[in-house]
Amino acid sequence: METENQISRADIDAIIAPFRGRKGILIPLLQKMQERFGYVPRESIEPIAEAAGVFPVEVYGILTFYAQFYLEPRGRHTIRVCQGTACYIMGGKDILDHVCGKLGVQVEETTKDNRFTIERVACLGCCGMAPVVMIDNDFYGRCTVQKMDEVMENYK
Ligand code: FES
Repeated sequence: METENQISRADIDAIIAPFRGRKGILIPLLQKMQERFGYVPRESIEPIAEAAGVFPVEVYGILTFYAQFYLEPRGRHTIRVCQGTACYIMGGKDILDHVCGKLGVQVEETTKDNRFTIERVACLGCCGMAPVVMIDNDFYGRCTVQKMDEVMENYK
């Protein structure tokens, strides 16, 4: 995965090239772009629109409609703190505030060192383990702020 500063028009064109002249390329092309960079760089929107034969505004529409796409660089790890009712009541809000405070970011932001992106999520379907946090694909139940401090150390 490359960082934002390294993205050139040549990189973008190289990703688009195999898709040119084909139908139904918009979503596969956006997926490919995100796979390569970890997000869909804004400078790629116009070339993508041109290749797909749509207006840039339509590309933005797709990007904002589908939660799978990101317009900003992401951290190496994503912390998802459940704010569903059960988790909220059991201290999920304190955990979210603690994690944000500790990392110096707001929800939906990424730390300056690109280590973590923080997200607030609704019920993860395991309310009996509230409050619940996921880091990448790892699940942590009955979280406390102390437990969060410990587990976050495992993600560099
Ligand atoms: S409310 Fe958090 S898992 Fe259901």
